[in-house]
Amino acid sequence: LPALRVAVLGAGTVGTEVLRLIAQQGDELAHRIGARLEVTGVAVRDRTKDRGEHVPAALLTDDPSALVREADLVIEVMGGIEPARALLLEAMEHGASVVTANKALLAQDGASLYEAADVHGVDLSFEAAVAGAIPLVRPVRESLAGDRIQRVMGIVNGTTNYILDAMTRTSADFGDALASAQELGYAEADPTADVEGHDAAAKASILASLAFHSRVRLADVHCEGITSVSAQDIAAAGRMGRTIKLLSIVERVEEENGERISARVYPALIPDSHPLASVSEAYNAVFIEAEAAGSLMFYGQGAGGAPTASAILGDVVSAARSRVHGGVGPRESRYAELESIPLEEL
Ligand code: NAP
Ligand code: HSE
Repeated sequence: LPALRVAVLGAGTVGTEVLRLIAQQGDELAHRIGARLEVTGVAVRDRTKDRGEHVPAALLTDDPSALVREADLVIEVMGGIEPARALLLEAMEHGASVVTANKALLAQDGASLYEAADVHGVDLSFEAAVAGAIPLVRPVRESLAGDRIQRVMGIVNGTTNYILDAMTRTSADFGDALASAQELGYAEADPTADVEGHDAAAKASILASLAFHSRVRLADVHCEGITSVSAQDIAAAGRMGRTIKLLSIVERVEEENGERISARVYPALIPDSHPLASVSEAYNAVFIEAEAAGSLMFYGQGAGGAPTASAILGDVVSAARSRVHGGVGPRESRYAELESIPLEEL
């Protein structure tokens, strides 16, 4: 099989899991794609750090620019605005397809990335940027592209859900709950982005832009985090049969002089009987209301290395297939795969 040169930018919580999946599932992925994924380098800041068996020291580089210029596919899991932005633009300029989990960058400057992808005719995919493992970007961007989405609403930040859940169920202290969310790999490098609501707001701006085919900037999202939610607030909510959750809501609002888009993130009181009230730990749950489809619900792990890597690998397979086969995977091999799985006896 031919090889696709893959550059990985970052080998932290998410990057190491991406590399583990590529190493462990290499043969299967090659079969699905019709080409081998050959990791040509992994860009990090500190080349001396041991990153486990799936991140060989020989692949580590502190020259990401050279790496992306020689790649067919670039996986960006370094985070932050620069140098991630410049590297992704450079990668696309040199003809590479790009997969990124960087919601902060997409929310701040998605427009220049989308434009570069169009100009250079490459894929720009970011399923992992919103709600971890949950397929949400693709449904909004593609599956519902023929419908008219009215509203996307739910929990899209795992760290704050983990903290609020721990404070509600075990009366944990805010600081201790945040420390465990960091240890579990849910929080951003600077967890202020989570607890102040900026991460959820970045995701809301991405969802609103896709859902309403418009450009909703981060600054357009009303944003309140959970730092002012106290143990007393949570207890008082409990006495009223309510649970406090950080909600992200993007919707079309009809007004006298036309329609506008509203995008907001804030801690809300949810009745205990509502499905969102029982979303625990770092899980996310999102409802989409569309004119023809009606109401849809998406639920799953919203943060963490492996769940996020799952979403990234989905994008990698799709972008790699499109490079190899012009958009569609080899039909015969997919039938062959299905036939090779023994049927479970009922
Ligand atoms: P992380 O653990 O902090 O890892 C970041 C990695 O990028 C590290 O290996 C770091 O190198 C490298 N890096 C950072 N800046 C660099 C630079 N200027 N040059 C070279 N390497 C650089 O972060 P993470 O949790 O994996 O998150 C990565 C991205 O995925 C972020 O955009 C985040 O928002 C997104 N994301 C994360 C999750 C999650 O649950 N963690 C979920 C969805 C999306 P060193 O190791 O040498 O410092
Ligand atoms: N810090 C983010 C969260 C990671 O807690 O949801 C997933 O995007």
